[in-house]
Amino acid sequence: MPVIVFVSPKGGAGKTTSSLALATTVAEKGATVTFIDADPNRPVQTWGTGGAKPEKMTIISDVTEEDIADQIDEAARSSAFVIVDLEGTAATIVAHAISEADFVIVPTQGSQLDAEQAGRAFRLIRAHERGIQKHKPDYRLPYAVLFTRTSVAIQSRDTSHIRRTFADANIPVFKVELNERAAFKAMFSYRQTLSGLGRAEVSNVDKAVENAEAFAAEVLQMLREHQETKSEVAQ
Ligand SMILES: Nc1ncnc2c1ncn2[C@@H]1O[C@H](COP(=O)(O)OP(=O)(O)OP(=O)(O)O)[C@@H](O)[C@H]1O
Ligand SMILES: [Mg+2]
Repeated sequence: MPVIVFVSPKGGAGKTTSSLALATTVAEKGATVTFIDADPNRPVQTWGTGGAKPEKMTIISDVTEEDIADQIDEAARSSAFVIVDLEGTAATIVAHAISEADFVIVPTQGSQLDAEQAGRAFRLIRAHERGIQKHKPDYRLPYAVLFTRTSVAIQSRDTSHIRRTFADANIPVFKVELNERAAFKAMFSYRQTLSGLGRAEVSNVDKAVENAEAFAAEVLQMLREHQETKSEVAQ
């Protein structure tokens, strides 16, 4: 059902890492997930060849600009969640994916420069909203910023300043941050899920699992809240 699209026009913001962490966490809890790997480098498709893909997770990587909207729509009919990872550009395929989204997650690393780049993602979201608002004036596409690769030890001055700037501009930000942890990287090098990583090979796996679960819980909570607002508006 809900389509969650990860967007950030800046490369390396943490889209693939956070979307895979979310997808595997939700699928391991028993929900069906279709992961649409729309990055031409197919990082998640490659990850899946390692054989650790949860049973409830399906990966689709054969998508084009022309058919991504249809593929998302079709996946949303059969899966509890559809999660879309895109390449780090403002290509047309990104706009097509946004047009099918129920919720957009904008990952950004916690520096001023990265946060400014996130503005490009907000503009894409607003452009989509304006199109729909022509015939549905109350339409909003919910989204939130996710801070990635933040230090577990300290909340940097940079990050707390950016949090305030986003709050002042009414831009929603996840309370949970995806911390910088070897385990998030190791998912790709070992082609494993977070929980499947060897505790002897990778440090603090359980902390990363906990972090991903908290992130997934906040995503579900935001989806619920937006669902409630939507039904209130409809009444
Ligand atoms: N939470 C994290 N902890 C440690 N390393 C991370 C974390 N998130 C991302 N990384 C690392 O940062 C780099 C970029 O992350 P990722 O590939 O997820 O970004 P992306 O937004 O998908 O990039 P692209 O735009 O190129 O697709 C990778 O090397 C990844 O391993
Ligand atoms: Mg990526």
